[in-house]
Amino acid sequence: HSPEREAAYLLVHGICHLMGYDHIEEEDKMIMRAMEEKILQSVGMTRDEVSLVSDETLLTLARTARERSYSPYSSYAVGAALLSRSGRVYLGCNIENASFGLTNCAERTALFKAVSEGERNFTAIAIAGGSGESPDSICPPCGVCRQVMAEFCNPKTFKVFLAKSEDEYTSLTLAELLPYGFDMENLN
Ligand code: THU
Repeated sequence: HSPEREAAYLLVHGICHLMGYDHIEEEDKMIMRAMEEKILQSVGMTRDEVSLVSDETLLTLARTARERSYSPYSSYAVGAALLSRSGRVYLGCNIENASFGLTNCAERTALFKAVSEGERNFTAIAIAGGSGESPDSICPPCGVCRQVMAEFCNPKTFKVFLAKSEDEYTSLTLAELLPYGFDMENLN
């Protein structure tokens, strides 16, 4: 790095720690790195080759979120990692209930966590689901989750990454998943 970039990085790193970020766990480290790059970018210090949060990082975080799935009834564990325009990542998992209909999907867990923290704009979500140790086929978001995404995400630009296996994924836009969706424009 240039001395300027190094100095800016160290300052931003320290500020992130003061903001509560840390890098002991691999998952926290990815989230902290993303925030560091977000801040560095906003002051014009981003290295060109570094994207804020890569598709792969978001997918790795979705797999991490999946480990926290509470799914004793279906044994189908789902994790989601949602990227906000502000550069933050919110994780979610599916949370089942003995009263089955009360189950909350991973995607909505992530979205509701984010919106309740003040976020309203999102750029992408990664989803990893499956019955086995690790995902071996895609978990397309259910209709309810697609509709909730449509409330907060631009269908044409919001990207949905579906983990196929450890290193394969499919990328779609929300518009492809929810054509002719109903949204607030229809209420005017
Ligand atoms: N599930 C999700 O979390 N997201 C989806 O998009 C599809 C389904 C969960 C709900 C339930 O806990 C389990 O997967 C099986 O339906």
